[in-house]
Amino acid sequence: DKAGFKHYMLKEIYEQPAVTHAAFEDRIKDGLVDESAFGEQAAVIFDQVKQVQIIACGTSYHAGMIAKYWMEGLAGIPCHVEVASEYRYRPVVISEGTLFISISQSGETADTLAALRDVQDQILASLTICNVPASSLVRESDLNLMTNAGPEIGVASTKAFTTQLVGLLLTTLVLGRRFKLSQEKEREIVALLAQLPGLMEHAIKMDGSIEEMSQAFAEKNHSLFLGRGTLYPVAMEGALKLKEISYIHAEAYPAGELKHGPLALVDKDMPVVTVAPRNEMLDKLKANLQEVSARGGELFVFAGCSQEVQPGEGIHVLEMPEVPEVLEPIVYTVPLQLLSYHVAVLKGTDVDQPRNLAKSVTVE
Ligand code: F6R
Repeated sequence: DKAGFKHYMLKEIYEQPAVTHAAFEDRIKDGLVDESAFGEQAAVIFDQVKQVQIIACGTSYHAGMIAKYWMEGLAGIPCHVEVASEYRYRPVVISEGTLFISISQSGETADTLAALRDVQDQILASLTICNVPASSLVRESDLNLMTNAGPEIGVASTKAFTTQLVGLLLTTLVLGRRFKLSQEKEREIVALLAQLPGLMEHAIKMDGSIEEMSQAFAEKNHSLFLGRGTLYPVAMEGALKLKEISYIHAEAYPAGELKHGPLALVDKDMPVVTVAPRNEMLDKLKANLQEVSARGGELFVFAGCSQEVQPGEGIHVLEMPEVPEVLEPIVYTVPLQLLSYHVAVLKGTDVDQPRNLAKSVTVE
């Protein structure tokens, strides 16, 4: 049931204010994260964690990349992230006290499941962040955190991703208590989470201006997505969405890498999308952006108004709500999902069932 929406994907994008709320609401007690939400053994296991190894595929891998910024940046937790299909096929070194975190919408992805099975007897414990309670990954993991996104029908993952991010933020907080995260900081982040549904709502209201923007992409064959910090994986996710459903080649780069090669590609046929972080790196990013526009490239900048990015010749600014830094990757994902959706609709592709792809990759 598409509930009046033209596609499941659009319906699922619009569900995000509600489901990101469902992903944290029952897990908060007295202003802190209730770690029993992860399972009975959670406290005992978390006490022994020395580092984290995250494994996932595709969109779920992008969620893992963002979690690494949080784990190391907010809490000082050593964290590695790798795609399951690489990790499982190479000899790996697993340090003592490793919490193995798998992230999966379906809980059935063959490579992710195989990676978990391969390391079972070398890890401290396993935790799955998953959307399907009755799935294999959930059954085979010591601890679980459900994302509570509800069934995701569109092949392109949307609400599963943003709810995974909420789950990973909660995970960072409970583990962070054992590392460098103060209780005061945890309270502060938990309080910010309450703003998330409203911010997601606000981002969805940009739908009209993004639909307009999508016209600049429909006739193109290539595009570039730039971001810094947690917004680099968001750029990767935006590029993946565009590739998957509109079949336009899209590549993501950390903004600082632009001048190390990809800048040579930029011309009027290569639109560039930037998700602008609100931090000390913004000035450098702006300088990067100027280099691109000087080469005739067309720039689309998603930024909060306090960032003072000036529109100009070939520079389009899409105004985002002001978002607390820790929530940026969750909120900035929404307009990129909408962009890929509208480009695909303009191109007339099968939005919910892109060619060659399956919702759940249970074979290798
Ligand atoms: C992209 C997409 C895929 C999945 C990947 C992992 O939109 O849906 O990249 O994210 O196949 O699937 P799960 O999360 O079910 O393990």
